[in-house]
Amino acid sequence: MNGMRVLVTGGAGFLGSHLCDALLAEGHSVIAVDNLITGRLQNLDHLRREPRFEFRKLDICEAFDPGKVEYVHHFACPASPVDYMTHGIPTLQVGSAGTFNTLEVARKYGATFFLASTSECYGDPHEHPQTESYWGNVNPVGPRSVYDEAKRFSEAATVAYRRYHKLETRIVRIFNTYGPRLQLNDGRVISNFMKQALRGDDLTVYGDGKQTRSFCYVSDEIEGILRLAKSKEQEPTNIGNPTEFTMLECAERVLRVTGSKSKLTFQPLPQDDPKQRCPDISKAKRILGWEPKVDLESGLRLSMDYFKQAIAMEDTAAAMKA
Ligand SMILES: NC(=O)c1ccc[n+]([C@@H]2O[C@H](COP(=O)([O-])OP(=O)(O)OC[C@H]3O[C@@H](n4cnc5c(N)ncnc54)[C@H](O)[C@@H]3O)[C@@H](O)[C@H]2O)c1
Repeated sequence: MNGMRVLVTGGAGFLGSHLCDALLAEGHSVIAVDNLITGRLQNLDHLRREPRFEFRKLDICEAFDPGKVEYVHHFACPASPVDYMTHGIPTLQVGSAGTFNTLEVARKYGATFFLASTSECYGDPHEHPQTESYWGNVNPVGPRSVYDEAKRFSEAATVAYRRYHKLETRIVRIFNTYGPRLQLNDGRVISNFMKQALRGDDLTVYGDGKQTRSFCYVSDEIEGILRLAKSKEQEPTNIGNPTEFTMLECAERVLRVTGSKSKLTFQPLPQDDPKQRCPDISKAKRILGWEPKVDLESGLRLSMDYFKQAIAMEDTAAAMKA
């Protein structure tokens, strides 16, 4: 794995940019491509003078050729509910045409192809926690289907390239991940709660707040991804933190870490919102020797400076507009 030239699609996004950092730290050269639909160049600012790093702004839904690469990490896709519901059709396009074009790059250069898939493949699950062998409960015509079905299609396309073209492939099913560079306004639980708590606004809880989620800190997620990338495992593998929190417990942790005096406010549960989401990570433990190390409270503390900065930047931008 040493000294490879690696393609990262979606490299200006939250996870893609952390992955670029990790690959560079391992001694690889990285070419990141992104159309910036939800990503930000700011996430890559610190790499501007890095000679082993290159960025190209392009839409992977059009055929593209990054030159010879030995490994392909396919991370491009709007990922938060706010983003994929706003950009429903681009989400379906990047999951279909974008995935095919990226698979073709891997095929052309004989590179290993790594797909960033998602726990959303399990939909609103009837099995709990979710193991990789569970096929999921997805509403194909619901508001979240643009994302869930795009990712399920991407998995099918990846497996088809392995089956028909003998491509080396890896598939990670990522569960809710948070940390620095998470978009401030992406509507995900952690960014919502942190922003509201740090601003002293009420924390918005959907439903009765008893639905659960698990949250993986970004350094743990990236470590799991790198281990899977280096393994020979071709079947989907869950990488996430299995410790479950109700939304109420999560809100309480955020209030404790930020020292905020914000109150809670309740709103109706959005359609098709999963009631429970928790990875079974026995497989990752067994085959990769991986498990998360950062608990929620520590992760929130590690993310706090970033959220404060992001809020300050948002305020400055608003003041300049006014
Ligand atoms: N963050 C999570 O908790 C999570 C959970 C499950 C799966 N994932 C997966 O991980 C990947 C990265 O997610 P993220 O949280 O970093 O989201 P993100 O929105 O921050 O990053 C996605 C990146 O893809 C880029 N992109 C989208 N369409 C593109 C296109 N057509 N051409 C080029 N670039 C394009 C965006 O501009 C963005 O920079 C996604 O594939 C997502 O489905 C993330």
